[in-house]
Amino acid sequence: NIVAHDLRTPLTSIISYADLLLRYKNEPEQTRNEFLNIIKTEGLRLGNLVNDYLDLSKIESGLMNFKKEPLDLTELIGHCVSLFEGQGKIMGIQLRQELDHPERFMTMGDRGKLIQAFVNLLGNAFKFTPRGGTITIRQQRLSPEDSLNLPEYVEPITTQQEMMMVRLTDTGPGIAGEHHKKIFEKFYQIQNDPAKTFSGSGLGLSISKNIIERHQGRIWVESEIGSGATFIMLLPVSNKMSQVPNQT
Ligand SMILES: Nc1ncnc2c1ncn2[C@@H]1O[C@H](COP(=O)(O)OP(=O)(O)O)[C@@H](O)[C@H]1O
Ligand SMILES: [Mg+2]
Repeated sequence: NIVAHDLRTPLTSIISYADLLLRYKNEPEQTRNEFLNIIKTEGLRLGNLVNDYLDLSKIESGLMNFKKEPLDLTELIGHCVSLFEGQGKIMGIQLRQELDHPERFMTMGDRGKLIQAFVNLLGNAFKFTPRGGTITIRQQRLSPEDSLNLPEYVEPITTQQEMMMVRLTDTGPGIAGEHHKKIFEKFYQIQNDPAKTFSGSGLGLSISKNIIERHQGRIWVESEIGSGATFIMLLPVSNKMSQVPNQT
């Protein structure tokens, strides 16, 4: 059982380091602080894991309520980008939002959930992109007549609706084809991944996929080892509202 294992590892280190602190009271301050830091880090990790796991279980069981409110997707993505601007500066990573169209992309959906979906993807891009790298988000309109090559693991699109295509590209290590489908599955993390030291739950992409699909959207990845990764999302946009002019 992967869940139990993933939960027990941080729990075990929290308990054993707390135990050491209680038993060896005369260790130098520096050592004690090191142990306290491990307890804090592992506690945070456990907290994230539990939150992600509860979220995913709720979404999968259909118990999670999704709002249906009018949303400006361009603004929503801009908001997510702004959340990462500080991190970009600190990590020396350039973050860009490119708009092919002056128009806004409007849809009906749950703002908080869609932010969660994009933040997971941006978080991954930052986790895997080295200093000096670039993360780019491109948005473009996709009409029903535009041709589209979906990978076999993505459910075909049958509706005749206008879509917004979001491409999130990073300059990280890339992902080999054999993993493309699997990374969207629960708990899947690529083995021998040097970035694994950053840890994580392996739940982020699964949560994002669930959220996007609840909005009748699609998500997949295009990547090869050594040439970065591009996560592509499609979200239906409402024709009526898509012409709303940019009011800035
Ligand atoms: N931008 C990326 N570049 C390279 N590998 C990635 C990227 N995003 C995700 N991955 C791979 O997919 C796995 C699953 O991602 P995710 O579900 O977000 O879990 P986590 O981030 O907790 O490991 C990651 O562990 C990593 O191996
Ligand atoms: Mg992640």
